[in-house]
Amino acid sequence: MSAGVVGNAPYCLVVDDEERLRQVLMHIMRGDGFRCLEAGSGEEALEHLQRHPISLMLSDLKMPGMSGVELLRRVHEQQPDVAVVMITAVPDVEAAVSCLASGAMDYLLKPFHIEEVRVRVAKAMDRRRLVLENRHYQERLKERVVAQASRLEEMFFAGVQALAEALELKDPYTRGHSVRVSQYSSILGRTLGLDEEVVRQIELGGHVHDIGKIGVREAVLNKTEPLTADEYEHIMIHPLVGWRVLAPLLGEAPIALSIVRSHHERMDGRGVPDGLVGEAIPFEARIVAVADAIDAMTSGRPYRGNELTLEQALAELQRNAGTQFDARVVAAVEKAVVRGELCLLPRTTDQFAAVTGAVRIGLAQTSSEALVRD
Ligand SMILES: [Fe+2]
Repeated sequence: MSAGVVGNAPYCLVVDDEERLRQVLMHIMRGDGFRCLEAGSGEEALEHLQRHPISLMLSDLKMPGMSGVELLRRVHEQQPDVAVVMITAVPDVEAAVSCLASGAMDYLLKPFHIEEVRVRVAKAMDRRRLVLENRHYQERLKERVVAQASRLEEMFFAGVQALAEALELKDPYTRGHSVRVSQYSSILGRTLGLDEEVVRQIELGGHVHDIGKIGVREAVLNKTEPLTADEYEHIMIHPLVGWRVLAPLLGEAPIALSIVRSHHERMDGRGVPDGLVGEAIPFEARIVAVADAIDAMTSGRPYRGNELTLEQALAELQRNAGTQFDARVVAAVEKAVVRGELCLLPRTTDQFAAVTGAVRIGLAQTSSEALVRD
């Protein structure tokens, strides 16, 4: 190795069955700052390739044993980034050109001048650098696109969160409700064996299902006495209002959007806003309807009595399975409760953040009005 070669200099592998030629080429390459390795055959060259990160290979085309063409193919199979310059005698020009088609960067005709070797090698190394830089750029671009997409998603969720918080300010009783419904819904989605992407949308849909209550008068939202028929009708505009507000935002999450619209549909067709019957109601909305009811029944509100326990709420769901709720979803509640996967979550968002275990809350009763007001 010449004095000019530093420790991290690129490796050049010189492959030729003529030792004299190898020495000449190595001398030139060392002068240009390469660390040189030599091989008298294709087989020996492949052994070097296993042990060293070769940047450049100068290879004879005609050698005993493995031909230069075969070596070129095998080198690129193992290390596609090696710049290969083939060396050939004049009668083999056609074969040399076919090497270019097989991925060699260039070829040298014997006999060659030192300067010609240096120019061809410099060109080959330049092309290799461009290829590597281009690949690196593409990879960075891909990473940036992924990072941008995730930033957009974060911004989107922050926007949705802001809407949910605006609703909580307007209707303090919904504090934590959306989060709990979202959690119950995703547990049920998994119990029902749904795909993770669908569960993700159910989680989102559960989180924003009552956003439309932003369009409901506060006097009605916060009323502590039972609602009049008109007030009830007014509050029930919220699925449609929510759907209209979120439709431009949830283009990528149609399942979440359908949950917002259809979480007050009933299996018997007496729900709102579309009066859909049974299977016509999006399945994910039927899941959130049940999760919504669980939280409503297990939460205390001024307009109804104390809360139900989870077991009492389950019994209530079972009584209404097939008419109000999807029996399959109600069965999933039972399964998740038995397995210990579904437990009641704490009542406030602060508690929700702090507590991870189940919280048992007191006795209560429920009514259909209570369900829609949650
Ligand atoms: Fe609702």
